[in-house]
Amino acid sequence: MTTLDARPRAGTTLRFPDHFRWGTATAAYQIEGAAGEDGRAPSIWDTFSHTPGKVRNGDTGDIAADHYHRVSEDIALMRELGVTDYRFSIAWPRVQPAGRGPVVQKGLDFYRRLTDELRRADIRPVATLYHWDLPQELEDAGGWPNRETAYRFAEYAGLAAEALGDRVATWTTLNEPWCSAFLGYGSGVHAPGRTSAVDALRAAHHLNLAHGLAVRALRGTVPDAAEVSLTLNLHSLRARSESPRDLDAVRRIDAVGNRIFLDPVFRGRLPDDLVRDTAALTDWSFVRDGDLRTAAAPVDSLGVNYYSPTTVAAGSSPAPSPWAGAERHVRFVSVPGPRTAMDWPVDADGLHGLLLRLRKELPDVPLVVTENGAAYEDYADPSGQVRDPERVAYLHAHLAAVHRAVEDGADVRGYFLWSLLDNFEWSYGYSKRFGIVHVDFPTQRRTFKSSAHWYAAVIARGGLAL
Ligand code: FCB
Repeated sequence: MTTLDARPRAGTTLRFPDHFRWGTATAAYQIEGAAGEDGRAPSIWDTFSHTPGKVRNGDTGDIAADHYHRVSEDIALMRELGVTDYRFSIAWPRVQPAGRGPVVQKGLDFYRRLTDELRRADIRPVATLYHWDLPQELEDAGGWPNRETAYRFAEYAGLAAEALGDRVATWTTLNEPWCSAFLGYGSGVHAPGRTSAVDALRAAHHLNLAHGLAVRALRGTVPDAAEVSLTLNLHSLRARSESPRDLDAVRRIDAVGNRIFLDPVFRGRLPDDLVRDTAALTDWSFVRDGDLRTAAAPVDSLGVNYYSPTTVAAGSSPAPSPWAGAERHVRFVSVPGPRTAMDWPVDADGLHGLLLRLRKELPDVPLVVTENGAAYEDYADPSGQVRDPERVAYLHAHLAAVHRAVEDGADVRGYFLWSLLDNFEWSYGYSKRFGIVHVDFPTQRRTFKSSAHWYAAVIARGGLAL
């Protein structure tokens, strides 16, 4: 392990509010490994990654960053960074392997150890209950398109809250339900890899329902001081032009990409235009009386994940598509400019715009940036150093955008950098590195990248040096 240089440098500072939370984020399947240990059963991501052709280079999360066996070392890294908070996810198939029935004590013990050690390091544990690793047995019973999965999730939320409620500071029900529904069941590029527009819509509704039921289960169990939240990957949308047809393309993607979650969760209703746009696919009769009221159980904050904006125009896009029919009316426009190794445009204004939209539409809901970061082609040079100036520039620009949003009145309480460690980047496997800590996977050696030194200095001074 390398040592960190976090000396605050001289110069003017863009200071963030006192008590602003500085964190890093990870997810269970992406870092833990130990896929078959201590009673953990397969999730949809184990099945998917072991299916030839689904993940680049045939990579799997079997070992990942071996975090399951390196918790203390990884917390020591965070301590050196000086983070105030750590966002991790609990693996449902580790805690309740079949997705129903009894919990596995050893699985729970892992998260007890993790949260105890975090507390000792004075780092607030921020736990996500679902970061995409559905127990395979529940997928075999129909997965998220099956209503029953929502009830199973609420039961698991209650069990996790009973076991860890005294040590988790913030509970997040779901991470990016858009990806679970539309990449998992629509385009099929994520597990479980199904391609049905109707199933994607059903899944989205059952995820909203699951969220609301889980909020209820959490509130009944955890102390009042614990926060309850949800993390969405809202699409920051731009129209190619101001023409009515291009603006209508934005409206369609906003409905099926954003308002399909925002409206049920914060207003207890479905967007009328979404129901109209999808009328040829479904009459939405899978939405039962009371479901939307359940989905709208109040939360303490909204987590916002942001990487890049999306520009759209009138036109059409190829299938299979995650957009539940909207692709027949919408073309995704590639804009010139810098890009990350994911080929995602670098554009921090999209984050500022998104935070201001939320300030306007949900003025009473505190916001937390629960993921932001970038993949670049990192490597250790002959002296063992990993220099990632592009990532530093990306992070600087995005934190400056958050600062600007705060100045413009957005109630942003914290920022979680994705990610602490290089990890299993879903269908890209280990080919994309998002960490500020480099992981040499064959040896599992961790090395701070320049961005880690930079982030430690930002945290130490409570803001950005100009
Ligand atoms: C988000 C996911 C996270 C990570 C980043 C790059 O969509 O929540 O797990 O893969 O993208």
